Amino acid sequence: MGSEIAGKRAAGYTAVDRFVQNNTCIGLGTGTTAFYAIERVGQRIAAGERIVAVATSIETERLCEQQHIPVVALLEREIAVAIDGADQIAPDWALTKGGGGALFREKAVALCAKRFVIVATPSKLVPALGAFPLPVEIVPYAMPYVVREIRSLQPDIEIVRRGRDAPFVTDNGNWILDCHFGEIDRPAALDSVLKSVHGVVASGIFAGLANDVVIGREDETAIMLPQNG
Ligand code: 5RP
Repeated sequence: MGSEIAGKRAAGYTAVDRFVQNNTCIGLGTGTTAFYAIERVGQRIAAGERIVAVATSIETERLCEQQHIPVVALLEREIAVAIDGADQIAPDWALTKGGGGALFREKAVALCAKRFVIVATPSKLVPALGAFPLPVEIVPYAMPYVVREIRSLQPDIEIVRRGRDAPFVTDNGNWILDCHFGEIDRPAALDSVLKSVHGVVASGIFAGLANDVVIGREDETAIMLPQNG
């Protein structure tokens, strides 16, 4: 097994084993690390447990179906814990997410969950947010206005995501702008400014939401990250 993959699996499996209880509803994230949390929940269901899930994307819904995990709607049941990946994790556990374009539903599930657990590998730990472009979900009609307003904050903006030939379309039918702000020293404040722009649906900044961070390492072990922000 490739070492990065071993770390992702260790993080996903450890988070499920530690935080998911039988007879509960959980939130399941999107991406290559959250994949292993979904796989582990599938194993627990196959062993007879009764766990249901809210999916953060159409892709995760599809994976849940493959793993025979019943999917329910947002807040159809109380969400005991949501488990999801991240693109960057700052020392105070402010995050950027949305590398997979699922940030709006991911944030909705995180906001509804009683506990929000991040699964990641050490490569996601950063001294400050910003090296990875910040995904911002926008309503396509408003794109010229949104771009003009966000540009006044001086980031470089990619309207067409790298490696694509058209804007990234989200599960909600919106577009993603990838914004390069450089170092983000006040993530919550930037999130508020972005949300105030008419046409912005959500930004990929998740500040003050994570309760736990599970880091999976190349040797297939995982640790709970101590918070030092
Ligand atoms: C998707 C996300 C993912 O959680 C994030 O991009 C991390 O993904 P991966 O675990 O594949 O690195 O926010 O919108």
